[in-house]
Amino acid sequence: MANNYDVKDLGLAEVGRQRIEWAALEMPVLKLIRERFEKERPLEGIKLSACLHVTAETANLARTLAAGGADMVLVASNPLSTQDDVAAALVSIDEIPVYAIKGEDNETYYQHLKAALDHNPQITMDDGADLVTGMLKERRDLLTNLIGSTEETTTGVIRLKAMAKDGVLSFPVVAVNDSLTKHLFDNRYGTGQSTLDGVIRATNVLIAGKTVVVGGYGWCSKGIAMRAKGLGADVIVTEIDPVKALEAAMDGFRVMPMIEAAGTGDIFITATGDIHVLDGEDFAAMKDGAIVCNSGHFNVEINIPDLEKMAVEKRQPRAFIDQYVMSDGRRINLLGEGRLINLASAEGHPSAVMDMSFANQALASEFLLRNKGKLEAKVYALPEEVDREIAALKLAGMGIRIDTLTSEQERYLNSWEEGT
Ligand code: ADE
Repeated sequence: MANNYDVKDLGLAEVGRQRIEWAALEMPVLKLIRERFEKERPLEGIKLSACLHVTAETANLARTLAAGGADMVLVASNPLSTQDDVAAALVSIDEIPVYAIKGEDNETYYQHLKAALDHNPQITMDDGADLVTGMLKERRDLLTNLIGSTEETTTGVIRLKAMAKDGVLSFPVVAVNDSLTKHLFDNRYGTGQSTLDGVIRATNVLIAGKTVVVGGYGWCSKGIAMRAKGLGADVIVTEIDPVKALEAAMDGFRVMPMIEAAGTGDIFITATGDIHVLDGEDFAAMKDGAIVCNSGHFNVEINIPDLEKMAVEKRQPRAFIDQYVMSDGRRINLLGEGRLINLASAEGHPSAVMDMSFANQALASEFLLRNKGKLEAKVYALPEEVDREIAALKLAGMGIRIDTLTSEQERYLNSWEEGT
């Protein structure tokens, strides 16, 4: 049993253990890394604080880091994403201190972040840059001990690059999201499937025949649009970037401004990383019964304060649904309090994609240690060889073989003189 922790109920540990082991079956790349870490102990004695969604997949990462010798603490990166049984198993079976309770209030969330910082980490692992922001804004005393940080998500990476540009970042960060084996798979197939899963679990509505409006056309929103279309929806995409908008149009989606889409959509899903993508004027135009939710990292994409102001009544017809009744009687249904719907009402990305994301995380912590003292205060991507190695291991895990270059082909590719 870990000494310090704050979880819902340790009695859930056995259920959590089974859930973690079920997820492990789809995480062969992380398993190989764990086996190597057990032998080589590359993180021996390193104090590591992780602020991630506390799920069965994250538990497999935590087990890997602990197998590598890390002295780690895990806290939630979102108040609604914790799987309480998994948190219990990590504490009582794996002896890893966890601070995370599903549905925790804001105060508890920040107390938990504080516990991660009080661990005096040499490496931090973030999903949304909360630990880095906490250190830079309030706990600068921790910077002397810090070797570097890793960041999981697009939103966090955007923030960190802004910090580096402003000269505020004073240590190296590895942007795990920048690996191809992360964003091409986790963001697209993981968010695509788990977001639709979240909408369906929260509402049980039929997607076929509905008009689904997707805010954004980055890797996450692409996955959402693709999966909504696959389930039979008529999909509208909204964008601010002309290239992405063009891509969406040529992928076969209708593209228009949100205010035009607002009056036609049945289900609205935001995943842009920006604020107030759905705003007061959009709520005013929506149909009775519209469903709105978010799959971006922060709960700012839907202007909930505006919705609260415009409503004359608020009801809860089902778990994860707040129904706002407008003065003209229209009902707008907000899912999961505007927080990441795939983690609020479903279980987040499936293990098979988190396998690659968390292989990147584990190798990023090793990269920071191997290059200790040699890295600058900036945002790094993992080397291309690491990305290719993870992809190769994943293919092997899936039983897929591929061709290799013949020496003739290699020569051709390396020469500019041959064969035009
Ligand atoms: N982010 C999205 N899905 C996740 C999962 N299953 N585990 C951890 N972080 C996630």
